[in-house]
Amino acid sequence: MTLSIHAEEYGVSPKGEAVQLFTLTNAQGASASITNYGANLVTLFTPDRQGKMADIVLGYDALDGYFTNVPYLGATIGRVGNRIGKGQCKIDGKTYTFVQNNGTNHLHGGLEGFDKKVWKAETFETETSVGVHLDLLSEDGDQGYPGNLQVRTTYELHNDNELTCEYTATTDKTTILNMTNHSYFNLDLENQKTILEQKLKINAEQVTLLDQDQLPTGECLDVAGTVFDFTESKAIGADIFTDNEQLNIGGGYDINYILSDDSTVLKEAAVVIDEKTGRRLTVKTTEPCIQLYTANFLDGTLSGKGRSFEKHSAFCLEPQHVPDAPNKPMFKSIELKPGDTYNSKMSFAFDTIV
Ligand code: BGC
Repeated sequence: MTLSIHAEEYGVSPKGEAVQLFTLTNAQGASASITNYGANLVTLFTPDRQGKMADIVLGYDALDGYFTNVPYLGATIGRVGNRIGKGQCKIDGKTYTFVQNNGTNHLHGGLEGFDKKVWKAETFETETSVGVHLDLLSEDGDQGYPGNLQVRTTYELHNDNELTCEYTATTDKTTILNMTNHSYFNLDLENQKTILEQKLKINAEQVTLLDQDQLPTGECLDVAGTVFDFTESKAIGADIFTDNEQLNIGGGYDINYILSDDSTVLKEAAVVIDEKTGRRLTVKTTEPCIQLYTANFLDGTLSGKGRSFEKHSAFCLEPQHVPDAPNKPMFKSIELKPGDTYNSKMSFAFDTIV
């Protein structure tokens, strides 16, 4: 096997733009396919302990599934991932209003977030990897956000079975930015209807507590001894059905973990193991936090890749800053100022256990 990039026509966007699908394959035969519609990750084939490749992310059968994509499968999220309370915040002293697409909250960048835009794609190859750069100009006022934002998403599949995803951006007015990737993983998508038996470790000792609108209250909870404690590897389903106020708010895990190492270096945030197939996924990030979401709002009404998307059929591990940070000054700011360059990187590395 050698490194390869396959580009194909994938369809036409609702605005009439031609859309492509890029399949990156590494020297071990693992592959990732990405569309420049929304910079969405469509497939991710990784080996099990026998070396058999299988897709480990939820996705649709064709491009049009991504036009609505209410659950944000595989999405590149921006400008601001997660919720902004009441769809409002102040930037440089001025109040900005964003569409309320989640009750009274603004969620995942609005109705036409980065996952619904056609990005300009350019593939590249190095000695040990294949990748695609995706570029977008999000204009001043896009979804209510200030500033012309020039943003780049780069997916790169490395020969050592690591998929990296890096974001860079610059702006001409102070704005807010909190990008993430919203892939729904199931390490045994072919055979396990839920991810409840897959084992998760998160390198975090605290979560941010939620109010009834799923916004951080501003308080943090020490996870030790609680249902949120994943500091030691534990089945995702071990405590998920516990009657717990914070779990009940999201109908399962839908909460932001503050990483023990919140530095901007790329550090291990989470590890998931599936003992049946032997697959192990290690998530690294430069972000200070990671959102754990156990697909609580999937209810079987959508389908793709030969299955309906059921509750808990996948997990998301979304590196990011604390949700609603623009309205919660106790948390790290997500402001981006002219002259500064936003940079965020994550890595999904996959190997197997014996
Ligand atoms: C959020 C969930 C939301 C899901 C799908 C996750 O990032 O935390 O509350 O339902 O995305 O939009």
